[in-house]
Amino acid sequence: HYSCGAALVFLLAGVLAAPAASITRSDFPEGFVFGAGSSAYQVEGAVAEDGRNASIWDTFTHEGHSSDDATGDVTADQYHKYKEDVKLLHELGVDAYRMSIAWPRLIPDGRGAVNPKGLEYYNNLIDELLSYGIQPHVTIYHFDFPQALQDEYNGLISHKFISDFTGYADACFKNFGNRVKYWSTVNEPNIETVGGYDEGILPPQRCSSPFGFPCNGGNSTTEPYIAAHHLLLAHASAVSLYREKYQAEQGGQIGLSLLAWWFEPATQTPEDAAAAERMKEFHIGWFMHPIVYGDYPPVMQKNVGSRLPSFTDEERKKVKRSFDFVGFNHYIVVHVRADLNRLKQKLRDYMGDAAVKFDIRLLMSGNQFPIRLTIDFKTSKPWALKKLLKHVRVKYKNPAVMIHENGAADRTDPSGGNSYDDEFRSQFLQDYIEATLQSIRGGSNVRGYFVWSFLDMFEYLFGYRLRFGLYGVDFSSPARTRYQRHSSRWYSSFLHGGELRP
Ligand code: NOJ
Repeated sequence: HYSCGAALVFLLAGVLAAPAASITRSDFPEGFVFGAGSSAYQVEGAVAEDGRNASIWDTFTHEGHSSDDATGDVTADQYHKYKEDVKLLHELGVDAYRMSIAWPRLIPDGRGAVNPKGLEYYNNLIDELLSYGIQPHVTIYHFDFPQALQDEYNGLISHKFISDFTGYADACFKNFGNRVKYWSTVNEPNIETVGGYDEGILPPQRCSSPFGFPCNGGNSTTEPYIAAHHLLLAHASAVSLYREKYQAEQGGQIGLSLLAWWFEPATQTPEDAAAAERMKEFHIGWFMHPIVYGDYPPVMQKNVGSRLPSFTDEERKKVKRSFDFVGFNHYIVVHVRADLNRLKQKLRDYMGDAAVKFDIRLLMSGNQFPIRLTIDFKTSKPWALKKLLKHVRVKYKNPAVMIHENGAADRTDPSGGNSYDDEFRSQFLQDYIEATLQSIRGGSNVRGYFVWSFLDMFEYLFGYRLRFGLYGVDFSSPARTRYQRHSSRWYSSFLHGGELRP
């Protein structure tokens, strides 16, 4: 007995003292995709070249709404440097490149004729990727809505958006679907609607907010919900079209990409816990619940009431199960405090009694609301990704998931100058890749992981001050010279079979 016990003690001590098993790429399930990402307006430049027309982001940046009046006019100039970039992706060792197609480059007026030069550019880029064995994972619509359509009607709040989007998606499937096997219809509809139709902080700046943002008309109590409804219907319509007309022959998969902040109760009180749950529903549930169950989350129906559009039976059928996989863009943890009185008072001042029905909506202007939102793109909190993936697994029937974005940025250099030593980014990515593997071992159906971003590029409101790139870009050089960072070397060594160590 004694020796048995001693053996057990030794065994346990051995297990406890053993260094954590190192992780390599081969620990991931077969077919798991490692990649890096970008989006058209952020990376291409050449905004007025070869027949491309303006998107609402061109208009917005030219009005000077981004830091330092930055625009995407040139940015990393991938339009001219795609061959060099594909070579870098090859050296990195990725399986896949997540990219988007610029709607106003492919169909400059938003609807109608395809621009031959636009077609040629994306054909070249896709072919170049494939010549290195890199799979293009293509987002059809990543925020750059054609200005021509915005001028014609009020963007996403018009029903016309649905047929125009479907027509554009059709052109994508038809022209590229023989080579593109992964499609995401829309990127982050849950932030586009809040930013563009609630707060007015993003184009097209529609809002009725009392918080000092200039509004381009709009109504924050109804329009974000209408815009989201139309995005869901447009997504579902493109998916139906793909399934009916292309999928059998082309053999690809289709989904969408959602921003996925994690909401953590600020304290252990039941109120805060409930508030955090509600936030999850208003954030990802807004889109996940309809595509999994065919309707909006009950808590949204209850709180938003008649301001929440409803689906007809036919629409419900189309929306439900309109995905093969879901992409999540995960960065931030939001600590939620259910300070309802403060919230209600703020809202009552603004909207009268209607405010009482208004739930704790996700608003980026976090200081006006009882959520503590620090835009911190630097601190690694991999436990939040694990909680998110578990939440998705349990709540939404364990769908196939792509982590479409995860990455780190710092703002230490206010001039936005070049930075080379980004060990913090290597460590950050390592933490999240580890968390991904642990989640898979816990039963989550994760199929891929994409670092945001492949290289430095235009970062919306932050212009060029916030850099996410594995590769740096020297924006002061006319050639937009790319340079390696610690993180690109680190990721590359992992992708080439090395151990997961920063
Ligand atoms: C969200 C967006 O999809 C992407 O365009 C953006 O650059 C990153 N996340 C970082 O904010």
